[in-house]
Amino acid sequence: MRILTGLQPSGKLHVGNYFGAIKPAIDAQGEGDGYYFIADYHAMTTTHDAKELRENVRNVAIDFLACGFDPSRGVFFKQSSVPEVNELAWILSTVCPMGLLERCHSYKDKISKGISANHALFAYPALMAADILLYDSNVVPVGEDQKQHLEVTRDLVGKINDQYGEGTLMMPKARIRDDVAKVPGLDGEKMSKSYNNTLPIFGDEKPTKKLIMRIKTDSAAVEDPKPTENSIILALYQLFANESDYGQMISDYENGGCGYGDFKKRLAEAYWDYFAPMRTRREELVANPDEVDTVLKAGAEKARKEATKVLDRVRKAVGLT
Ligand code: ADP
Ligand code: TRP
Repeated sequence: MRILTGLQPSGKLHVGNYFGAIKPAIDAQGEGDGYYFIADYHAMTTTHDAKELRENVRNVAIDFLACGFDPSRGVFFKQSSVPEVNELAWILSTVCPMGLLERCHSYKDKISKGISANHALFAYPALMAADILLYDSNVVPVGEDQKQHLEVTRDLVGKINDQYGEGTLMMPKARIRDDVAKVPGLDGEKMSKSYNNTLPIFGDEKPTKKLIMRIKTDSAAVEDPKPTENSIILALYQLFANESDYGQMISDYENGGCGYGDFKKRLAEAYWDYFAPMRTRREELVANPDEVDTVLKAGAEKARKEATKVLDRVRKAVGLT
């Protein structure tokens, strides 16, 4: 079984990204043949600053490795290291009705946020379909927001196979991570960089702990029992603390006698300890940029070999060779 997913190189990783996307991707390693790539061509639909793109790609590569991706058990590469993906995207575009792209929420959302409508932004789902189909992927773990893009991908497989013969492309399946709870941000809304409420996973100690101290709470006095329901502190603490510490905090909430300042301190400690090994690993990678390059290069070679096989098959089927 081939599992494939793409990571957007879009700035600093936050705790929501970690639990919602990075950790599930890393946990899926070993379940099958894992292909993970940094979607740098996709990032170009919205980032037109060369330095920023290069840095973001670098950072996501370092972060993903620091978070525990094991290169001996999977393939990790930059999307643009396999430029063949553009040829497949083109072939898919030739059977892709305008209406299919016009209906995509993600495109409409981006436009409504003021991002200028360019051809690449509109054609984004065709390139994403090519990412998936170029490697004969079976399972594609994504967040709920990408569900429609997977439907477009499946539609395009149907069209190509109807036109050029069954087996020209493999039909992939989405794995929507609806079991992953939405991680709340510091204000209780969904943690998201667009809401300015994030807790970075690789932030500096003092400023990050300060962010935790600013989490919104009610005005219960120290001695009062405190509501456990909808508590941002508890929801975050559960992600980082072991069961017994978490249980202790629940009972301290219920019994009263501890203030929110104390709970936040415990949360800050648990958060800091949780990411400590990854932070150390990240520092090693920053100090050894060659290590990251070696992983990406080996990944690109493997991915490209696989891509060439699939593309040869498709080129024959459509009459290019
Ligand atoms: P942001 O909302 O900060 O812009 P992205 O949309 O770039 O984050 O999300 C990247 C990945 O992280 C997606 O797969 C998304 O589902 C996941 N993710 C982002 N925020 C959260 C969250 N608060 N809880 C769970 N998963 C999240
Ligand atoms: N569009 C995805 C996102 O925004 C990233 C992505 C690009 C992707 N190509 C992909 C995800 C292929 C899965 C498969 O998160």
